[in-house]
Amino acid sequence: MAQPVDLRVRLGSLDFANPILAASGTFGYGVEFAHLVDLNRLGGFVTKGLSARPMAGAAAPRLAETAGGLLNAVGLQNIGVEAFIREKLPLLRKYRTVVLANVFGSTPGEYIEVIQALERAEGVAGYELNISCPNTDGGGREFGVDPEMTGRLVAQARKAAKRPLWVKLSPNVTNIVTIARAAEESGADALTVANTYPGMAIDIRTRRSHLGRLSGGLSGPAIKPLTLKLVWETSRAVRIPVIGVGGIEKAEDVVEYLMAGAWAVQVGTAHFVNPAIGIELVKGIEKLATVNKVNNINELRGVLQT
Ligand SMILES: Cc1cc2nc3c(=O)[nH]c(=O)nc-3n(C[C@H](O)[C@H](O)[C@H](O)COP(=O)(O)O)c2cc1C
Repeated sequence: MAQPVDLRVRLGSLDFANPILAASGTFGYGVEFAHLVDLNRLGGFVTKGLSARPMAGAAAPRLAETAGGLLNAVGLQNIGVEAFIREKLPLLRKYRTVVLANVFGSTPGEYIEVIQALERAEGVAGYELNISCPNTDGGGREFGVDPEMTGRLVAQARKAAKRPLWVKLSPNVTNIVTIARAAEESGADALTVANTYPGMAIDIRTRRSHLGRLSGGLSGPAIKPLTLKLVWETSRAVRIPVIGVGGIEKAEDVVEYLMAGAWAVQVGTAHFVNPAIGIELVKGIEKLATVNKVNNINELRGVLQT
């Protein structure tokens, strides 16, 4: 009998049973999936983005399918951090899976408010800062498009957070390495690469956007080659772990991300087709590793030959 494959990964001070996490915004607050999926078999998951106060989000339609992808304009709808702590966290504490809270705001102060509220609660292992948000204190530009704005935000969050702090980068930048290094120097413990790509789809009959907004974020298989390259570039430029996320649908996609330098991956859009995709991927990478005589999944990290 072949030895079981060791799928465990350690990202800074956080231990995961395997490298498959569910991505923010595609897995609710986790509890909504608990009747469909054994949450304990996932490496972990990232909650829907949480803001200091509840947000109603964007007008419908919020999703539009494109060739090989999905456009979304959800408008960061969420129940707000206080309701999350009151209503969702007590249910999540029953599971061993690692829960990361995705955090956003329209000013640095709002990010800090969310982190401070979560610091007072039990059940969250760490934070993932979504920096693909417009900074209303900084002329409306996204935090994540400028190394200085990124650095200042991460430094403030670092001061507020005792728990591990991940920073989720925007792919919509000229040079992701400068942003990655700014986040690392300001105290990020890991980097999630990356968020969605801005895109549009037009209904030619109505001459209007297919979404309730003019544009949205593109995700799904269409973006995988783009994000894979960003993971490769980022993981070579920083010492902290990189988590790859974009277009993963099958075990081979996971292995590609690991070979490009990712320590773990997140799966997003694929949940809309198959809510149990995360667990299928865990089984899939275990099988692939066995067939290829890989005893420990960490052996695959960054092995891309150049
Ligand atoms: C409907 C939807 C909602 C999302 N909401 C968030 C969010 O609240 N915060 C965030 O950081 N990323 C959010 N994302 C981005 C995903 O977490 C992920 O980075 C992206 O979709 C790429 O991965 P995928 O191709 O596997 O979906 C969302 C994506 C989708 C499709």
